[in-house]
Amino acid sequence: MPPRPSSKVPQGTPRTSPQTDTREEVSAVLGRIRGLESEMAEVIRQMQEKVQQLEYLNDFSSLLNSTLETAVVREKALEATCRLLRCETASLYLVDEKRAELYWETALGEVGKRLQKSVRLPIDDRSIAGYVAMTGESLVVNDVENDSRHFKKTRAAHPGPGESGPSFLARTMICAPLRVKGKTIGVLQALNKLPSVPPRSSLHPWPDFYDEDKRLLDTLSHQVAIAVENSRLYSDIKKNFFETCEALAEAIEQKDRYTGGHTKRVVFYSMAIAEEMALPPEQLETLRLAAILHDVGKIGIEDSILKKQAQLNDAEWKVMQNHPKMGYDIMSRVEGLREVIVGMRYHHERWDGGGYPQGLRGPEIPLIARIISVADTYDAMVSTRPYRKGLDPSYARQEILKHAGTQFDPSAVQAFDRAFSAGRLGKGSRADG
Ligand SMILES: [Fe+2]
Repeated sequence: MPPRPSSKVPQGTPRTSPQTDTREEVSAVLGRIRGLESEMAEVIRQMQEKVQQLEYLNDFSSLLNSTLETAVVREKALEATCRLLRCETASLYLVDEKRAELYWETALGEVGKRLQKSVRLPIDDRSIAGYVAMTGESLVVNDVENDSRHFKKTRAAHPGPGESGPSFLARTMICAPLRVKGKTIGVLQALNKLPSVPPRSSLHPWPDFYDEDKRLLDTLSHQVAIAVENSRLYSDIKKNFFETCEALAEAIEQKDRYTGGHTKRVVFYSMAIAEEMALPPEQLETLRLAAILHDVGKIGIEDSILKKQAQLNDAEWKVMQNHPKMGYDIMSRVEGLREVIVGMRYHHERWDGGGYPQGLRGPEIPLIARIISVADTYDAMVSTRPYRKGLDPSYARQEILKHAGTQFDPSAVQAFDRAFSAGRLGKGSRADG
């Protein structure tokens, strides 16, 4: 008989079976799949982040194109910087060409609220932002404290979260120049990149900014530069327009030396009343322009009436009453002044319908005209004329109150009274008036 095979496993032979081998292979494959899954999850996360960034950049562009308000542009620019760069705070410096300096316009977030209102930096290598403005090149600095360009005043100006003093540390920073038509108009700065896993700890220290972040800030800064420049140009145009209107109003006032300063005072009183009535900013601007131009029609009144050193007779009053219409005829040629013109045209209407030029009544009279009417009448009463001395402000106030609901809009009179009581109408107005 042949010998029976031994049931013992020979020495050196692995103690495995085909089933065991298969399980190990399956386990290894599963491990690789889990690894791939984890890599894919990371790739998907990064792609989602990129998509979010692109979406946000797109939204930001639309937002910037929808406003010319400088403050809104600046605030949104900083919000976008913090969100896109995931940083603790952001700053926007603008170039002051006359002084060859950068000045700090805005900072964002809880940190930003505590920042100094006014910071100025030289455009040279004594600060990182100044260096970027000088070179026109964006820059990543991941060890700000030890950078020789770091301007200590910048550090002092950044009280950190939970800190009240000048102990905020600028750890990491990217600065990108705002360039328009080859010229640097400012610097956009992202400070302290936040860790992706909050809260920050020794396990999750402050991360560095990378080239990818720099590219993102560069893209953003192109859009911000254009928006800042557009809002600046718009603001300059608006300022020039207001100044031109003021010059026109003053030129007309020159015809009558006794009314000197009347326009400025009517603007001042009108704005005080409107602010008491909580008019929105756009309406305040319209009112201001309407108040500046309210008597522009007097340019068409002959000097013999306008400069008369005595009270006007009935016939002369009739001529004088043409000035709102004349003002309307002159200014209605200017496109874009439609709302301003109504304030000018109807500032002599009365609440009870007894005014001119059209005898409008109550709410038919545009609100800005009702406000100018109170301001104009108050100034006329307290101003000294060739034929009478100006009234005491307290007496003039009582006269205004007395005519609420007949000559004047009661709500405008109430606002006038509040402004008067608060001493907001300047000399002569007082709480016990
Ligand atoms: Fe007038």
